[in-house]
Amino acid sequence: MNFQWYPGHMTKAKRQMQEDIKLIESGYRACGCKNPLSSRNPDIDELGKNKYRLILMNKADLADKERTREWSAFFKEKGFFVVSLDARSKSGMKSITDIVMEACKEKIERRPESVGIKNRPVRAMVVGIPNVGKSTFINSYAGKACAKTGNKPGVTKGKQWIRLNKSVELLDTPGILWPKFEDQTVGLRLALIGSIKDEILNVDELAVELVKFLKAEYPGLLAQRYEVSEENDIIELISAVAVNRKCLSKGGEPDYSKAAALIIDDFRSGKLGHITLERPEI
Ligand code: G4P
Repeated sequence: MNFQWYPGHMTKAKRQMQEDIKLIESGYRACGCKNPLSSRNPDIDELGKNKYRLILMNKADLADKERTREWSAFFKEKGFFVVSLDARSKSGMKSITDIVMEACKEKIERRPESVGIKNRPVRAMVVGIPNVGKSTFINSYAGKACAKTGNKPGVTKGKQWIRLNKSVELLDTPGILWPKFEDQTVGLRLALIGSIKDEILNVDELAVELVKFLKAEYPGLLAQRYEVSEENDIIELISAVAVNRKCLSKGGEPDYSKAAALIIDDFRSGKLGHITLERPEI
């Protein structure tokens, strides 16, 4: 299966980012806790060289807590400030402010005299691939619906500066992918978390890959949720899900594709459990 998806608006957004990056002092890289590594965009890394030191590992509520701890330690070890969060819940935002402020403080202290008064707000930018929760984070953090959120990859539009507090101004940017995934496993993981437009994906094949992964890494989860035997081969297992969950075609036959879509939806929404697709190589 080929996962490449780099529509025209992303080329444009990347060009815009090239310009915007000159305006900011600090970058916050947003990624999903389910796949912190494959959601790292090499183009953004290149553009933001030496600018971002803070990693926002979002959707922590959906991920495997043990893996999130491992990833957090991994990034800290590499010298990043790290926050793991559920951007939809406003409750954790206070502790996040402390870390954001610490990351900013470093920037302020390093300001050359030419930048002017020391206490001017730090201009920062949230960057990342589509659908990792950039807009939701900004909305929760700024305390009002100021960045447009939506359920389609690439929905964040335009350029908007948001005054978070007297110390930080944040620039929201559209999510971008990169033109070619050298490693198709990266494409697969991005497709699974919903960062690639579903319309270009083969959902049946995607579900096969997900079931293969879950059987190996999280044995028992599929059996528990769908009352199916994991001893079955993958196609039989998905067909059994179709029967048990009454995923039926118009003629009343078990509908394999509906079951495949259901498994992917349940994975994305966390109904299948706390799952992380990758672990750091220590
Ligand atoms: P983006 O700017 O990076 O593209 O992402 P955006 O904020 O639009 O969020 C994409 C989807 O992820 C939204 O769901 C949003 O509610 C959800 N989301 C964001 N942060 C979190 C989180 O920490 N945990 C969980 N579980 N979900 C999160 P949606 O279903 O596409 O839209 P809606 O139902 O919220 O309208």
